[in-house]
Amino acid sequence: MSDFLDLARNRRSRRDFSRQPVEFELVIEVVRAATYAPSVGGMQPWHFIILTDPGVKDAVCDNCPGQSWMRNAPVLIVFCGSSGKVDDFYPRFGDKWLAQTLAACMQNGLLAAQELGLGACWVSSFDELNIRDVLKIPDGHRPEAILVLGYSRETPADKALLPLDQVVFLNFFGGKVTEKAAVLRDWGEHFRKKKDDFVASQPEKKSFSEQAKSFFKKPKKPEE
Ligand SMILES: Cc1cc2nc3c(=O)[nH]c(=O)nc-3n(C[C@H](O)[C@H](O)[C@H](O)COP(=O)(O)O)c2cc1C
Repeated sequence: MSDFLDLARNRRSRRDFSRQPVEFELVIEVVRAATYAPSVGGMQPWHFIILTDPGVKDAVCDNCPGQSWMRNAPVLIVFCGSSGKVDDFYPRFGDKWLAQTLAACMQNGLLAAQELGLGACWVSSFDELNIRDVLKIPDGHRPEAILVLGYSRETPADKALLPLDQVVFLNFFGGKVTEKAAVLRDWGEHFRKKKDDFVASQPEKKSFSEQAKSFFKKPKKPEE
């Protein structure tokens, strides 16, 4: 299995952290990875507030209901979305597409943390208005999620995933994948046909060497 597939498979939420501080360079690597995410319209509508000050972190934790475990984490990163910018461009779908963009960003950050040997957890349970106040987030921007970061002390239990045949459908919602070979054969035929259609649609071409020859041929001298 590729390194990436292993990384994705082994990523887990971590909520128990040691007191060991996290190196600033590693925090920046996590944020940098987040910025590699796809974004709506390529707008990169995001800002990241790194919290290390105990007073500010406590004020944020006070506004995260049911998340007392966060207080032990050495670093919090608040992922903010530029809602004003996205709404101006996409008035009908701004909220949804901004949330999707920041979710892609968050997943990149979580995977980067895992790759760097850090533990991390996604937190969305917070009082948005109070967090805006505490962190001085201006209008046109909103906190979308918090990435909690630190050196993990836990070994998470195995995760029971829903079996693929319950969550994967073929061709329509509810369509069962009954025969793996049929799926592969259908795709094989699909691509063969596409290739045949493409070749048939192309005008006949001279070979490369013929094209090169006529390209470099000296122009005839005009008749005298
Ligand atoms: C949109 C979203 C919001 C989440 N919010 C919280 C949260 O507020 N607190 C928390 O402890 N975990 C939160 N999580 C983490 C999930 O609880 C966790 O991903 C889930 O239990 C699966 O476990 P795993 O991450 O180890 O695979 C959130 C995850 C997502 C995708």
